[in-house]
Amino acid sequence: MEKTKSSLMNTYNRFPVKVDQAKGSYIRDADGKEYLDFTAGIATCNLGHVPDAVENAVSRQLQNVWHCSNLYQIGPQQELADLLTDYSCMNQVFFCNSGAEANEAAIKLVRAYNSNNKTIAAFHQSFHGRTMATLSATGQEKLHTGFKPLVEGFTFLTYNHFDSLYWLKENPPAAVMLELVQGEGGVIPAEENWINELVQICKDEGILVVIDEVQTGMGRTGTLFAYEQYGFEPDIITLAKGLGSGFPVGAMLAKEEVADAFQPGSHASTFGGNPLASAAGVSTISEIVRLNILDNCMEMSEKLFTGLKQLQDEYSQIKSIRGKGLLIGIVVEGAAVDLVTAAIGKNLLLTAAGQNVVRLVPPLIITENDVLLFFERFRMVLKLVNPAMTKYCD
Ligand SMILES: Cc1ncc(COP(=O)(O)O)c(C=O)c1O
Repeated sequence: MEKTKSSLMNTYNRFPVKVDQAKGSYIRDADGKEYLDFTAGIATCNLGHVPDAVENAVSRQLQNVWHCSNLYQIGPQQELADLLTDYSCMNQVFFCNSGAEANEAAIKLVRAYNSNNKTIAAFHQSFHGRTMATLSATGQEKLHTGFKPLVEGFTFLTYNHFDSLYWLKENPPAAVMLELVQGEGGVIPAEENWINELVQICKDEGILVVIDEVQTGMGRTGTLFAYEQYGFEPDIITLAKGLGSGFPVGAMLAKEEVADAFQPGSHASTFGGNPLASAAGVSTISEIVRLNILDNCMEMSEKLFTGLKQLQDEYSQIKSIRGKGLLIGIVVEGAAVDLVTAAIGKNLLLTAAGQNVVRLVPPLIITENDVLLFFERFRMVLKLVNPAMTKYCD
């Protein structure tokens, strides 16, 4: 039978780039055209594409065992849990396969921990995933449309707004759940004063603090975890994206007294902590440390922020620049997707966050030359897109 439609479900607006090969900060398409990749699989390939050490670790694991049930002991999984707990303030880890699953696990752990109060306060413009519970925790009405009834028990407060703190004091929920830089919501960093007060209220009122580090984690903001920059210790954090350098792996980490609320049978995942994914995770963390990736992230971040501020003076379509480390949002006049589309024509891959924010999430290994090339190409893109008409000039 002749196919009149793609055999893929229509869930993504895909750009006409057929990815064939990738290495480091570059992607090559099927026609041999090479792109500077400032998306890194959307904050996932933090070590660049196909990093040698991770490739070797996974290849070695491929020779041994690909998969076995969590009914048995899995060496690389234990190793990854040890590394994660050594490098964070957390004591125990549950492994899964994605960010949404990590957040699902966190939501279940909060409910298991608190038998009286099941409410979780989340924030407008947040993004926590697409499963029913994580969608229900996501504060974006447009993503809820068509999928109601949602999972009960979530309430939404205003990010970076002191009203949310009064609300928390008056109506203490079981937990707050938030990103420290709202990624999909438009690259909005949490303000330090606000977070400090929020955490203090949570401590005073016995509210658990769940930090979604799916996008900000694994060095993206310049520290291994974004919470380190705010100087507090959450009760639960969630990870995915950068944890496996592109191998699907998610994790929910918790303080021991909270983690104890899970017992055998409380939660599970067939593939969670799979030997291959865990081997990728172990070598990813080891490489982040060995290569001093965090220092490079901050150095390149500074160069990008400085150059972007200069561009802002020259191009009126740039309204503001915000973010942390190599999670940077360029707020533009008009539709961000127009710039993203034009950039493809200039061999530059970018991604949008919301309507009017171009998001830069390059690999954390980018070099000074990559940054120069980015500015050369992005400048051409800005010249090309006419903000008044949100159309191409030529
Ligand atoms: C902060 C945050 N949480 C959760 C998710 C969901 O992760 P996944 O797509 O792996 O389910 C994302 C994905 O973009 C995210 O940015």
